[in-house]
Amino acid sequence: MDPIISVSGVTKTYKGGFQALKATDLEIRRGEIFALLGPNGAGKTTLISIICGIVKASGGTITADGHDIVRDYRAARQAIGLVPQELTTDAFESVWATVRFSRGLFGKPPNPAYLEKLLKDLSLWDKKDERIMALSGGMKRRVMIAKALSHEPTILFLDEPTAGVDVELRRDMWEMVRRLRENGTTILLTTHYIEEAEEMADRIGVIAKGEIVIVEEKAELMRKLGRRELTLHLQTPLETLPEGLKAWDLTLTDEGNSIVYAFDAQAAETGISALIRRLAELGLDFKDLQTRESSLEEIFVSLVRDSK
Ligand SMILES: Nc1ncnc2c1ncn2[C@@H]1O[C@H](COP(=O)(O)OP(=O)(O)O)[C@@H](O)[C@H]1O
Ligand SMILES: [Mg+2]
Repeated sequence: MDPIISVSGVTKTYKGGFQALKATDLEIRRGEIFALLGPNGAGKTTLISIICGIVKASGGTITADGHDIVRDYRAARQAIGLVPQELTTDAFESVWATVRFSRGLFGKPPNPAYLEKLLKDLSLWDKKDERIMALSGGMKRRVMIAKALSHEPTILFLDEPTAGVDVELRRDMWEMVRRLRENGTTILLTTHYIEEAEEMADRIGVIAKGEIVIVEEKAELMRKLGRRELTLHLQTPLETLPEGLKAWDLTLTDEGNSIVYAFDAQAAETGISALIRRLAELGLDFKDLQTRESSLEEIFVSLVRDSK
């Protein structure tokens, strides 16, 4: 299937000469939740602002829903709803008026039935006559989403949707995003929260210093880059690791009470059975063992570090 968004060779150098995006290629698949994950300043907002036509690229081409974003700007923009990073809501207007007005900006004919369903889906219907300034922060965020969806776009961009929101609202937002996807909306969200990407995304793109360093199915990213750790809790603590264990990548932790072995879970030979035999030969008993997989957080940190 054709990608719903296709970014090809896009670069951005801001006035003043700062290069915020190096040549960037990215394809977003129809119907997926794609998380663009990267630290502050990585270029996430720059990239989605370019796709939305808010910032002009220095080079490269982009299509959204088959439309070139420069040559066919209106049609491309029509396909996208953007929830920006900053909350900017017309504070004196009612929820209903704001959402209706947003739709009008896209030249779409009024459709009260659609807007009613939208507000109901976002649990905003009973607030429709309230002024936005009277709403809680969480409700204001819902209004931003309603505005972004008012013209019935097929793609929704959420720029740091849960930055600075409390845990409960974050869960609500995630729920909402999942519901939108179930209704066929393609979602591109940016985040610097690994937990958010891990929880939400079908695929993850990691961006650092204006460069997308990897794009992968979430599960595949975890599988490919995941290291595993075996921790052995010793009967008797050690001062140092014995010479006879040099062949393994081991660390002595927990004040000498535990040995941690980091191994590649994909390797044909993990080396664990040989390690355990050697421990027995050396007379080192352990009372317990556990294994764990490295988290997406650790993978992310190592990717961002390596890209420096
Ligand atoms: N209008 C601008 N002029 C100059 N530099 C900018 C401008 N907007 C963003 N930048 C710089 O570009 C880099 C990427 O910013 P941004 O895309 O906002 O990152 P992110 O959204 O990942 O935090 C940052 O170093 C930022 O300071
Ligand atoms: Mg940003």
